[in-house]
Amino acid sequence: MTEQREQWGSRLGFILAAAGSAVGLGNIWKFPYLVGEYGGAAFILLYLVCVLVIGLPVVIAEILIGRTAQKNPIGSYRELSNGNPFWISVGVLGVATGFIILSYYNVIAGWSLGYVVESVTGRFHDFQNPGQAGELFGHLSSNPVWSISFHAGFMALTVAIIYTGVTRGIEKASKILMPLLLILMIILVCRGVTLEGAKRGMDYLLKADFSAITKQTVLIALGQAFFSLSLGMGALLTYGSYMSKKENLPKSAVSIVAVDTIIALLAGFMIFPALFAMGEHPDQGFPLIFNILPVVFNSIPGGYYFRIIFFVLLALAALTSTISLLEVIISYMIDEFELSRKKMAILFGTLVFLLGIPPALSFGVMSKVTIFGLTFFGLFDFLATNVFLPLGGICTAIFVGWFWGIKKALPQLREGAEDTAPLLLKTWAFVIRYIAPVLILIVFLSSLGIL
Ligand code: PHE
Repeated sequence: MTEQREQWGSRLGFILAAAGSAVGLGNIWKFPYLVGEYGGAAFILLYLVCVLVIGLPVVIAEILIGRTAQKNPIGSYRELSNGNPFWISVGVLGVATGFIILSYYNVIAGWSLGYVVESVTGRFHDFQNPGQAGELFGHLSSNPVWSISFHAGFMALTVAIIYTGVTRGIEKASKILMPLLLILMIILVCRGVTLEGAKRGMDYLLKADFSAITKQTVLIALGQAFFSLSLGMGALLTYGSYMSKKENLPKSAVSIVAVDTIIALLAGFMIFPALFAMGEHPDQGFPLIFNILPVVFNSIPGGYYFRIIFFVLLALAALTSTISLLEVIISYMIDEFELSRKKMAILFGTLVFLLGIPPALSFGVMSKVTIFGLTFFGLFDFLATNVFLPLGGICTAIFVGWFWGIKKALPQLREGAEDTAPLLLKTWAFVIRYIAPVLILIVFLSSLGIL
Protein backbone atom coordinates (compact mmCIF):
# COMPACT_ATOMS: atom_id res chain seq x y z
CA MET A 1 0.00 0.00 0.00
CA THR A 2 1.25 3.50 -0.77
CA GLU A 3 1.98 5.57 2.29
CA GLN A 4 0.40 8.99 1.90
CA ARG A 5 2.84 11.74 0.96
CA GLU A 6 3.36 14.06 3.88
CA GLN A 7 3.52 17.85 3.69
CA TRP A 8 5.33 20.41 5.79
CA GLY A 9 3.30 21.78 8.68
CA SER A 10 4.09 25.36 7.66
CA ARG A 11 6.29 27.49 5.42
CA LEU A 12 8.64 27.91 8.34
CA GLY A 13 8.77 24.14 8.65
CA PHE A 14 9.99 23.86 5.07
CA ILE A 15 12.52 26.66 5.42
CA LEU A 16 13.92 25.30 8.64
CA ALA A 17 14.23 21.79 7.32
CA ALA A 18 15.82 22.89 4.05
CA ALA A 19 18.11 25.24 5.94
CA GLY A 20 18.84 22.35 8.28
CA SER A 21 19.91 20.35 5.27
CA ALA A 22 22.03 23.19 3.94
CA VAL A 23 23.67 24.14 7.23
CA GLY A 24 26.04 21.48 8.41
CA LEU A 25 29.63 20.35 8.25
CA GLY A 26 29.87 22.08 4.89
CA ASN A 27 29.57 25.44 6.60
CA ILE A 28 31.38 24.84 9.85
CA TRP A 29 34.03 22.27 9.01
CA LYS A 30 34.60 22.51 5.27
CA PHE A 31 34.15 26.19 4.44
CA PRO A 32 36.80 27.43 6.92
CA TYR A 33 39.39 24.90 5.85
CA LEU A 34 38.86 25.70 2.17
CA VAL A 35 39.15 29.42 2.94
CA GLY A 36 42.41 28.67 4.78
CA GLU A 37 43.76 26.56 1.96
CA TYR A 38 42.66 28.57 -1.05
CA GLY A 39 43.44 32.15 -0.27
CA GLY A 40 41.29 33.75 2.47
CA ALA A 41 39.23 36.79 1.52
CA ALA A 42 39.62 36.27 -2.23
CA PHE A 43 38.19 32.76 -1.93
CA ILE A 44 35.31 34.08 0.17
CA LEU A 45 34.44 36.65 -2.49
CA LEU A 46 34.57 34.05 -5.21
CA TYR A 47 32.35 31.81 -3.11
CA LEU A 48 29.81 34.60 -2.58
CA VAL A 49 29.63 35.27 -6.30
CA CYS A 50 29.01 31.57 -6.97
CA VAL A 51 26.26 31.46 -4.35
CA LEU A 52 24.48 34.57 -5.63
CA VAL A 53 24.83 34.23 -9.37
CA ILE A 54 24.56 30.46 -9.74
CA GLY A 55 23.48 28.99 -6.39
CA LEU A 56 20.33 30.99 -5.63
CA PRO A 57 18.74 30.72 -9.11
CA VAL A 58 19.43 26.98 -9.27
CA VAL A 59 18.07 26.49 -5.73
CA ILE A 60 14.81 28.02 -6.93
CA ALA A 61 14.79 25.81 -10.02
CA GLU A 62 15.46 22.65 -8.06
CA ILE A 63 12.78 23.28 -5.42
CA LEU A 64 10.37 24.18 -8.21
CA ILE A 65 10.84 20.84 -9.96
CA GLY A 66 10.06 18.99 -6.72
CA ARG A 67 7.10 21.15 -5.79
CA THR A 68 5.57 20.86 -9.24
CA ALA A 69 5.93 17.10 -9.59
CA GLN A 70 5.50 16.28 -5.87
CA LYS A 71 7.86 13.33 -6.27
CA ASN A 72 11.39 12.13 -5.60
CA PRO A 73 14.16 13.30 -8.01
CA ILE A 74 13.86 10.39 -10.42
CA GLY A 75 10.06 10.39 -10.41
CA SER A 76 9.94 14.18 -10.81
CA TYR A 77 12.22 14.19 -13.84
CA ARG A 78 10.30 11.29 -15.32
CA GLU A 79 7.00 13.04 -14.90
CA LEU A 80 8.00 16.48 -16.15
CA SER A 81 9.99 15.12 -19.11
CA ASN A 82 7.30 12.60 -20.08
CA GLY A 83 9.62 9.68 -19.47
CA ASN A 84 12.67 10.94 -21.35
CA PRO A 85 15.52 8.54 -20.45
CA PHE A 86 18.20 11.24 -20.39
CA TRP A 87 16.36 13.31 -17.78
CA ILE A 88 15.51 10.22 -15.75
CA SER A 89 19.23 9.47 -15.63
CA VAL A 90 19.84 12.98 -14.27
CA GLY A 91 17.57 12.01 -11.37
CA VAL A 92 19.47 8.76 -10.98
CA LEU A 93 22.78 10.62 -10.90
CA GLY A 94 21.36 12.80 -8.13
CA VAL A 95 20.29 9.89 -5.97
CA ALA A 96 23.66 8.18 -6.54
CA THR A 97 25.53 11.36 -5.64
CA GLY A 98 23.55 11.60 -2.40
CA PHE A 99 24.57 8.06 -1.62
CA ILE A 100 28.27 8.86 -2.11
CA ILE A 101 28.13 12.13 -0.17
CA LEU A 102 26.33 10.55 2.75
CA SER A 103 28.94 7.77 3.00
CA TYR A 104 31.89 10.06 3.70
CA TYR A 105 29.96 12.97 5.21
CA ASN A 106 28.74 10.62 7.89
CA VAL A 107 32.35 9.81 8.82
CA ILE A 108 33.06 13.44 9.68
CA ALA A 109 29.70 13.67 11.42
CA GLY A 110 30.88 10.69 13.46
CA TRP A 111 34.01 12.61 14.44
CA SER A 112 31.92 15.47 15.76
CA LEU A 113 30.03 12.95 17.89
CA GLY A 114 33.35 11.55 19.05
CA TYR A 115 34.40 15.06 20.03
CA VAL A 116 31.32 15.37 22.21
CA VAL A 117 32.60 12.38 24.16
CA GLU A 118 36.17 13.74 24.31
CA SER A 119 34.82 17.07 25.54
CA VAL A 120 32.76 15.45 28.27
CA THR A 121 35.72 13.44 29.55
CA GLY A 122 37.71 16.68 29.81
CA ARG A 123 40.38 15.59 27.34
CA PHE A 124 41.08 19.14 26.13
CA HIS A 125 41.18 20.63 29.58
CA ASP A 126 44.80 21.69 29.72
CA PHE A 127 45.56 22.04 26.05
CA GLN A 128 47.56 25.25 25.63
CA ASN A 129 48.02 25.28 21.88
CA PRO A 130 46.55 23.83 18.67
CA GLY A 131 49.57 21.56 18.30
CA GLN A 132 48.36 19.42 21.19
CA ALA A 133 44.83 19.34 19.78
CA GLY A 134 46.26 18.40 16.38
CA GLU A 135 48.17 15.51 17.88
CA LEU A 136 45.03 14.17 19.52
CA PHE A 137 43.09 14.62 16.29
CA GLY A 138 45.68 12.65 14.34
CA HIS A 139 45.61 9.94 16.93
CA LEU A 140 41.80 9.65 16.97
CA SER A 141 41.07 10.00 13.26
CA SER A 142 43.63 7.33 12.39
CA ASN A 143 42.20 4.89 14.92
CA PRO A 144 39.92 2.50 12.97
CA VAL A 145 37.87 1.46 15.99
CA TRP A 146 37.19 5.06 16.97
CA SER A 147 36.23 6.29 13.53
CA ILE A 148 34.17 3.27 12.51
CA SER A 149 32.26 3.14 15.81
CA PHE A 150 31.24 6.77 15.59
CA HIS A 151 30.50 6.38 11.88
CA ALA A 152 28.14 3.52 12.83
CA GLY A 153 26.67 5.46 15.76
CA PHE A 154 25.92 8.47 13.62
CA MET A 155 24.31 6.40 10.89
CA ALA A 156 22.11 4.78 13.54
CA LEU A 157 20.96 8.24 14.68
CA THR A 158 20.13 9.26 11.10
CA VAL A 159 18.21 6.07 10.46
CA ALA A 160 16.27 6.51 13.70
CA ILE A 161 14.96 9.92 12.58
CA ILE A 162 14.13 8.84 9.03
CA TYR A 163 12.33 5.87 10.55
CA THR A 164 9.86 8.13 12.36
CA GLY A 165 8.78 10.05 9.23
CA VAL A 166 9.36 13.35 7.55
CA THR A 167 7.45 16.12 9.19
CA ARG A 168 7.50 14.91 12.76
CA GLY A 169 11.17 14.04 12.89
CA ILE A 170 12.83 16.66 10.76
CA GLU A 171 10.65 19.67 11.30
CA LYS A 172 10.67 19.44 15.07
CA ALA A 173 14.39 18.96 15.31
CA SER A 174 15.27 21.89 13.02
CA LYS A 175 13.06 24.36 14.83
CA ILE A 176 15.06 24.18 18.02
CA LEU A 177 18.56 23.44 16.83
CA MET A 178 19.31 26.13 14.30
CA PRO A 179 18.78 29.16 16.53
CA LEU A 180 20.80 27.53 19.30
CA LEU A 181 23.71 26.89 16.97
CA LEU A 182 23.60 30.49 15.78
CA ILE A 183 23.81 31.83 19.33
CA LEU A 184 26.75 29.66 20.25
CA MET A 185 28.63 30.62 17.11
CA ILE A 186 28.11 34.29 17.88
CA ILE A 187 29.59 33.75 21.34
CA LEU A 188 32.62 32.10 19.76
CA VAL A 189 33.03 34.88 17.21
CA CYS A 190 32.95 37.46 20.02
CA ARG A 191 35.61 35.52 21.90
CA GLY A 192 37.79 35.09 18.82
CA VAL A 193 37.79 38.70 17.68
CA THR A 194 38.59 40.03 21.16
CA LEU A 195 41.69 37.85 21.59
CA GLU A 196 44.98 39.69 21.37
CA GLY A 197 46.37 39.52 17.85
CA ALA A 198 43.01 38.74 16.27
CA LYS A 199 43.28 41.65 13.86
CA ARG A 200 45.49 39.75 11.43
CA GLY A 201 42.73 37.19 11.21
CA MET A 202 40.19 39.88 10.40
CA ASP A 203 42.46 41.19 7.65
CA TYR A 204 42.83 37.69 6.34
CA LEU A 205 39.04 37.42 6.00
CA LEU A 206 38.40 40.91 4.69
CA LYS A 207 41.32 42.00 2.52
CA ALA A 208 41.27 40.10 -0.74
CA ASP A 209 44.45 39.21 -2.58
CA PHE A 210 43.56 37.68 -5.89
CA SER A 211 47.07 36.63 -6.81
CA ALA A 212 46.50 33.19 -5.26
CA ILE A 213 43.36 32.43 -7.27
CA THR A 214 43.73 29.78 -9.97
CA LYS A 215 41.23 28.10 -12.31
CA GLN A 216 41.15 25.17 -9.93
CA THR A 217 40.21 27.50 -7.06
CA VAL A 218 37.18 28.70 -8.99
CA LEU A 219 35.96 25.12 -9.40
CA ILE A 220 36.48 24.50 -5.68
CA ALA A 221 34.49 27.62 -4.79
CA LEU A 222 31.69 26.58 -7.12
CA GLY A 223 31.66 23.00 -5.82
CA GLN A 224 31.57 24.30 -2.26
CA ALA A 225 28.63 26.57 -3.10
CA PHE A 226 26.69 23.53 -4.35
CA PHE A 227 27.79 21.34 -1.47
CA SER A 228 26.92 23.92 1.15
CA LEU A 229 23.52 24.67 -0.36
CA SER A 230 22.74 20.92 -0.65
CA LEU A 231 22.28 21.70 -4.31
CA GLY A 232 22.49 19.60 -7.46
CA MET A 233 21.59 16.15 -6.19
CA GLY A 234 17.92 16.29 -5.40
CA ALA A 235 17.85 17.03 -1.68
CA LEU A 236 16.14 20.39 -2.19
CA LEU A 237 13.99 18.84 -4.89
CA THR A 238 12.84 16.18 -2.44
CA TYR A 239 12.12 18.71 0.32
CA GLY A 240 10.34 20.86 -2.26
CA SER A 241 8.13 17.89 -3.07
CA TYR A 242 6.69 18.12 0.43
CA MET A 243 5.98 21.84 -0.06
CA SER A 244 2.51 23.15 -0.76
CA LYS A 245 1.79 25.31 -3.83
CA LYS A 246 0.31 28.00 -1.63
CA GLU A 247 3.76 28.94 -0.41
CA ASN A 248 6.07 31.60 -1.69
CA LEU A 249 8.90 29.63 -3.23
CA PRO A 250 11.34 32.40 -4.22
CA LYS A 251 11.08 33.95 -0.77
CA SER A 252 11.74 30.62 0.91
CA ALA A 253 14.74 30.03 -1.35
CA VAL A 254 16.22 33.41 -0.47
CA SER A 255 15.87 32.66 3.25
CA ILE A 256 17.58 29.30 2.90
CA VAL A 257 20.48 30.70 0.91
CA ALA A 258 20.83 33.63 3.33
CA VAL A 259 20.91 31.43 6.43
CA ASP A 260 23.42 29.06 4.86
CA THR A 261 25.72 31.87 3.79
CA ILE A 262 25.55 33.69 7.11
CA ILE A 263 26.46 30.53 9.02
CA ALA A 264 29.42 29.83 6.72
CA LEU A 265 30.72 33.39 7.13
CA LEU A 266 30.24 33.21 10.89
CA ALA A 267 32.26 30.00 10.92
CA GLY A 268 35.09 31.87 9.20
CA PHE A 269 34.96 34.62 11.81
CA MET A 270 34.80 32.02 14.55
CA ILE A 271 38.06 30.36 13.44
CA PHE A 272 40.50 32.74 11.79
CA PRO A 273 40.80 35.62 14.27
CA ALA A 274 41.42 33.03 17.02
CA LEU A 275 43.80 31.11 14.78
CA PHE A 276 45.94 34.15 14.03
CA ALA A 277 45.82 35.19 17.67
CA MET A 278 47.35 31.82 18.53
CA GLY A 279 50.04 32.30 15.89
CA GLU A 280 48.89 29.43 13.69
CA HIS A 281 48.89 28.99 9.91
CA PRO A 282 45.55 29.05 8.07
CA ASP A 283 46.30 26.20 5.64
CA GLN A 284 45.82 23.25 7.98
CA GLY A 285 43.43 21.33 5.77
CA PHE A 286 40.53 19.23 7.01
CA PRO A 287 41.66 19.01 10.69
CA LEU A 288 41.39 22.82 11.00
CA ILE A 289 38.40 23.22 13.29
CA PHE A 290 39.33 20.17 15.33
CA ASN A 291 42.76 21.69 15.99
CA ILE A 292 41.67 25.22 16.76
CA LEU A 293 38.29 25.22 18.47
CA PRO A 294 38.93 22.87 21.39
CA VAL A 295 41.74 25.21 22.47
CA VAL A 296 39.76 28.45 22.03
CA PHE A 297 37.24 27.21 24.60
CA ASN A 298 40.00 27.11 27.23
CA SER A 299 40.12 30.90 27.10
CA ILE A 300 36.40 31.26 27.84
CA PRO A 301 34.93 31.09 31.34
CA GLY A 302 32.82 27.94 31.50
CA GLY A 303 34.68 26.72 28.41
CA TYR A 304 34.25 23.10 29.45
CA TYR A 305 30.47 23.36 29.10
CA PHE A 306 30.51 25.56 26.02
CA ARG A 307 32.80 23.08 24.28
CA ILE A 308 30.40 20.23 24.98
CA ILE A 309 27.44 22.27 23.77
CA PHE A 310 29.33 23.30 20.63
CA PHE A 311 30.17 19.78 19.56
CA VAL A 312 26.64 18.61 20.38
CA LEU A 313 25.26 21.35 18.13
CA LEU A 314 27.79 20.59 15.40
CA ALA A 315 26.73 16.96 15.49
CA LEU A 316 23.08 18.00 15.35
CA ALA A 317 23.71 20.36 12.44
CA ALA A 318 25.36 17.45 10.66
CA LEU A 319 22.40 15.27 11.57
CA THR A 320 19.85 17.52 9.84
CA SER A 321 22.06 17.22 6.74
CA THR A 322 22.54 13.44 6.86
CA ILE A 323 18.77 13.12 7.30
CA SER A 324 18.18 15.06 4.10
CA LEU A 325 20.71 12.93 2.24
CA LEU A 326 19.16 9.66 3.33
CA GLU A 327 15.65 11.01 2.76
CA VAL A 328 16.39 11.45 -0.96
CA ILE A 329 17.05 7.75 -1.34
CA ILE A 330 14.19 6.68 0.91
CA SER A 331 11.61 8.91 -0.77
CA TYR A 332 12.62 7.33 -4.08
CA MET A 333 12.13 3.80 -2.75
CA ILE A 334 8.76 4.69 -1.20
CA ASP A 335 7.39 6.53 -4.25
CA GLU A 336 8.57 4.13 -6.90
CA PHE A 337 8.37 0.74 -5.33
CA GLU A 338 5.82 1.34 -2.57
CA LEU A 339 8.24 -0.09 -0.05
CA SER A 340 8.03 0.61 3.64
CA ARG A 341 9.84 3.68 4.99
CA LYS A 342 11.01 1.76 8.03
CA LYS A 343 12.56 -1.18 6.20
CA MET A 344 14.19 1.06 3.62
CA ALA A 345 15.68 3.31 6.30
CA ILE A 346 17.40 0.33 7.87
CA LEU A 347 18.49 -1.24 4.57
CA PHE A 348 19.97 1.91 3.07
CA GLY A 349 21.44 3.07 6.36
CA THR A 350 23.39 -0.18 6.40
CA LEU A 351 24.50 0.08 2.77
CA VAL A 352 25.70 3.65 3.16
CA PHE A 353 27.53 2.68 6.34
CA LEU A 354 29.39 -0.03 4.43
CA LEU A 355 30.31 2.33 1.59
CA GLY A 356 31.61 4.76 4.21
CA ILE A 357 34.13 2.30 5.65
CA PRO A 358 36.94 2.97 3.11
CA PRO A 359 36.66 6.77 3.58
CA ALA A 360 36.54 6.25 7.36
CA LEU A 361 39.84 4.37 7.15
CA SER A 362 41.42 6.93 4.81
CA PHE A 363 43.04 8.78 7.69
CA GLY A 364 44.76 5.72 9.13
CA VAL A 365 45.17 2.18 7.88
CA MET A 366 44.09 3.03 4.32
CA SER A 367 45.81 6.38 4.04
CA LYS A 368 48.31 4.93 1.58
CA VAL A 369 45.63 3.41 -0.66
CA THR A 370 45.13 6.00 -3.37
CA ILE A 371 43.33 6.30 -6.68
CA PHE A 372 44.47 9.13 -9.01
CA GLY A 373 46.57 10.26 -6.06
CA LEU A 374 43.56 10.65 -3.77
CA THR A 375 42.47 8.58 -0.78
CA PHE A 376 38.98 7.09 -0.84
CA PHE A 377 37.84 10.03 1.21
CA GLY A 378 39.48 12.53 -1.12
CA LEU A 379 38.18 10.79 -4.21
CA PHE A 380 34.58 10.54 -3.00
CA ASP A 381 34.65 14.17 -1.95
CA PHE A 382 36.22 15.41 -5.18
CA LEU A 383 33.94 13.46 -7.47
CA ALA A 384 30.74 14.28 -5.63
CA THR A 385 31.43 17.93 -4.83
CA ASN A 386 33.40 19.18 -7.78
CA VAL A 387 32.02 17.00 -10.55
CA PHE A 388 28.60 15.50 -9.85
CA LEU A 389 26.99 18.43 -8.01
CA PRO A 390 27.90 21.10 -10.59
CA LEU A 391 26.90 18.64 -13.31
CA GLY A 392 23.56 18.17 -11.57
CA GLY A 393 23.27 21.95 -11.35
CA ILE A 394 23.84 22.46 -15.06
CA CYS A 395 21.24 19.81 -15.84
CA THR A 396 18.72 21.37 -13.44
CA ALA A 397 19.14 24.75 -15.12
CA ILE A 398 18.93 23.37 -18.66
CA PHE A 399 15.92 21.25 -17.76
CA VAL A 400 13.96 24.12 -16.25
CA GLY A 401 15.18 26.72 -18.75
CA TRP A 402 14.88 24.74 -21.96
CA PHE A 403 13.46 21.24 -21.81
CA TRP A 404 10.53 21.42 -19.43
CA GLY A 405 10.75 25.04 -20.41
CA ILE A 406 10.54 28.46 -18.87
CA LYS A 407 6.97 28.90 -20.21
CA LYS A 408 5.74 26.08 -18.02
CA ALA A 409 8.09 26.84 -15.13
CA LEU A 410 7.16 30.50 -14.65
CA PRO A 411 3.45 30.01 -13.92
CA GLN A 412 4.37 27.27 -11.44
CA LEU A 413 6.85 29.59 -9.76
CA ARG A 414 4.26 32.35 -9.55
CA GLU A 415 1.89 30.15 -7.57
CA GLY A 416 2.04 31.35 -4.00
CA ALA A 417 4.33 34.18 -5.09
CA GLU A 418 1.80 36.40 -6.87
CA ASP A 419 3.20 39.52 -5.24
CA THR A 420 6.73 39.04 -6.59
CA ALA A 421 7.84 41.77 -8.99
CA PRO A 422 7.64 40.48 -12.59
CA LEU A 423 11.11 41.86 -13.28
CA LEU A 424 12.58 39.59 -10.60
CA LEU A 425 10.95 36.53 -12.12
CA LYS A 426 12.16 37.54 -15.55
CA THR A 427 15.70 38.00 -14.27
CA TRP A 428 15.55 34.55 -12.73
CA ALA A 429 14.37 33.07 -16.02
CA PHE A 430 17.21 34.74 -17.88
CA VAL A 431 19.84 33.54 -15.43
CA ILE A 432 18.52 29.98 -15.48
CA ARG A 433 18.48 29.83 -19.27
CA TYR A 434 21.71 31.58 -20.12
CA ILE A 435 23.93 32.66 -17.26
CA ALA A 436 23.96 29.68 -14.87
CA PRO A 437 24.57 26.88 -17.41
CA VAL A 438 27.19 28.86 -19.31
CA LEU A 439 29.10 29.86 -16.19
CA ILE A 440 29.14 26.34 -14.78
CA LEU A 441 30.36 25.04 -18.13
CA ILE A 442 33.12 27.63 -18.30
CA VAL A 443 34.31 26.76 -14.79
CA PHE A 444 34.30 23.07 -15.65
CA LEU A 445 36.15 23.38 -18.92
CA SER A 446 38.71 25.80 -17.62
CA SER A 447 39.53 23.62 -14.62
CA LEU A 448 40.09 20.73 -17.02
CA GLY A 449 42.49 22.93 -18.89
CA ILE A 450 40.27 23.05 -21.99
CA LEU A 451 39.55 26.77 -21.80
N1 PHE B 1 24.80 21.15 2.72
C1 PHE B 1 25.28 20.20 3.68
C2 PHE B 1 26.36 20.87 4.50
O1 PHE B 1 26.80 21.94 4.16
C3 PHE B 1 25.79 18.94 3.04
C4 PHE B 1 24.84 18.34 2.04
C5 PHE B 1 25.21 18.26 0.71
C6 PHE B 1 23.58 17.92 2.42
C7 PHE B 1 24.34 17.77 -0.24
C8 PHE B 1 22.69 17.43 1.47
C9 PHE B 1 23.07 17.35 0.15
O2 PHE B 1 26.80 20.37 5.47
